[in-house]
Amino acid sequence: MKLLAIESSCDETAAAVFEEGHLKSNIIASQDVHISYGGVVPELASRAHIAKISAIVRKALHEAQLDVKQIDAVAATAGPGLAGSLIVGLTFAKGIAMAHRIPFIGINHIEGHIFSACIENKDLQPPFLALVVSGGHSMIVLVKDIGDYNILGTTIDDAAGEAYDKVAKVIGLPYPGGPNIDKIAQKGNPEFHKFPVATIKDKPYCFSFSGLKTAVLYKYRSMSESEQVEHQKDIAASFQKAVIDAIHPKITAAMDEFHIKKLVMVGGVARNSSLRKTMANLATENGFQLYVPSGIYCTDNAAMIGQVALLRLQRNEQSTLDLSPSPNLTIN
Ligand code: KG4
Ligand code: ZN
Repeated sequence: MKLLAIESSCDETAAAVFEEGHLKSNIIASQDVHISYGGVVPELASRAHIAKISAIVRKALHEAQLDVKQIDAVAATAGPGLAGSLIVGLTFAKGIAMAHRIPFIGINHIEGHIFSACIENKDLQPPFLALVVSGGHSMIVLVKDIGDYNILGTTIDDAAGEAYDKVAKVIGLPYPGGPNIDKIAQKGNPEFHKFPVATIKDKPYCFSFSGLKTAVLYKYRSMSESEQVEHQKDIAASFQKAVIDAIHPKITAAMDEFHIKKLVMVGGVARNSSLRKTMANLATENGFQLYVPSGIYCTDNAAMIGQVALLRLQRNEQSTLDLSPSPNLTIN
């Protein structure tokens, strides 16, 4: 089976090729058109996808040393994501499927993140616990099987990555904020300021990051310009500590409740160096095996879409060519 997968749900145009279950190429083009706006501008994102998608798919095929005529099936992200961006990848994939009379399958982006943990760990199989922390989603999921999920908790407001991006903007760091906060926080003092960690009554697995973002805004505004410069890294480190302190007890509780001994951490924020260390320690303390993909498979990529497509195609699933993009698609 030679599979081509496309991801275009937000601001990365990506394509990947699998051959006999092995990843042969994984091409990702990030859109820098958004940097000057400090966040993703949907209309610019869809236009950039249109401009890049053909070259990215060609590059992925070239690197896999395959011609499009040799491809047996094509997959693309169907949702959740930006409607205009999803349409581009989905339509491109459908066009290939139609022209070459091969199966097409639409894939859920969150499911893609969850199963990104399998790209480098072929033996990893459900059931497992998943912490999904990306720019658009924060959730703890009990993954019983592919397509069989129990969402234990989600964010009730901002996603973890969204909080990173917004806080970065407040303290004068460029978009995307996550990697920049990660970098400077390593030199900062996490005890500089105690930011609030939200707990939500009756929802032990749910997150809330919006109050934390506002607390950083007020603290930063209360500082003089010279203090802001001097303590930028300390604010970053203190904010990051609060994010990790919010995640830590929820994952501990999930590990206590579900003794399935396997935990995956996925999504863009799973690239965070401090969070990776904390989760590694937490998993060891609780006798869990932790699976965190390499950074390149944490942020948006098409390999994760292909990974889910392979699992679903093996089950003889495919989509019809009238599949519409679903901007608000969830799992379950
Ligand atoms: O999974 P992803 O590529 O896109 C969504 O599906 O949303 O995640 C992007 C998010 C952004 O908010 C970005 O700031 C964050 O992941 N991110 C990080 C790091 N690298 C990317 N957050 C914290 N630390 C990082 N090293
Ligand atoms: Zn994503």
